Amino acid sequence: MLGVGVPAFAQDTTTMTPAPRSTLSGVFTTEQASRGRNQFLGQCKSCHAPESQTGANFARLWGGKPLLDFFKFVSEKMPENDPGTLAPETNIDIIAYVLQLNAMPTGSTELAADTTALRETRIELKDQPTKSDTTSLLGVVGRRPSRGLPIDPRFAAPRVAPRR
Ligand code: HEC
Repeated sequence: MLGVGVPAFAQDTTTMTPAPRSTLSGVFTTEQASRGRNQFLGQCKSCHAPESQTGANFARLWGGKPLLDFFKFVSEKMPENDPGTLAPETNIDIIAYVLQLNAMPTGSTELAADTTALRETRIELKDQPTKSDTTSLLGVVGRRPSRGLPIDPRFAAPRVAPRR
C-alpha cells in the first residue's frame, strides 16, 4: 500500500508561474458538488471519511498545488482497490465535492475535467489550518510531524511495536 507512489507530491510547485485562477474564485457549482458527494459516498467513503479530505491533511497534501495534481492522483490511484476505473466526469465531480468540504466558494460554472484548465487552477486554501483542526481530524497522526504523504491511521501499519 505504501508503495503507491505520489511523484507529484515531491514536485516543487512553488516555482511555477502564478496561476490565473484559484479554487477561491468559484470554480465549481453546488450541483456538481452534490453529485460528487453521492459519488464520494459510494466510491470513496468505504476507505475515507469525508473529514479526512479536509483541514490540515488537505492543506498539507494539496495546498498551493495545481488542481491537476489532485485530479490526477484521484484519477490514477483511486479507488485504491480498483485504480483508474472512474470516469473523468465522476472524478471531477468528486474533486468539486472535496473543494466544497474545504469551504471553497461555489460559482456558476462547473469544473471541467480539462487538463490545461486544471493545471492553471491553484489550490488556494480558505483558512490556514489550525492546531485544533489537526488534532480533531487526524488524532495521533496529526501530532506527529510527518514527512511526505500522511497515511490514514486506519491504513497505516502500527508504527511502534510494543516492547517488552
Ligand atoms: C479500498 C480503499 C480505498 C478506496 C475505495 C479509496 N481510497 Fe483513497 N486511499 C486509500 C489508501 C490506502 C490511501 C493511502 C495510500 C496511497 O496514497 O495510495 C489513499 C489515499 C488517498 C488520497 C491521498 C491521501 C489522503 O489521505 O488524502 C486521496 C486524496 C484519496 N485517497 C482519495 C480517494 C478518493 C477521491 C476515492 C474515491 C474515488 C478514494 N480515495 C477511494 C484507499 C482507498
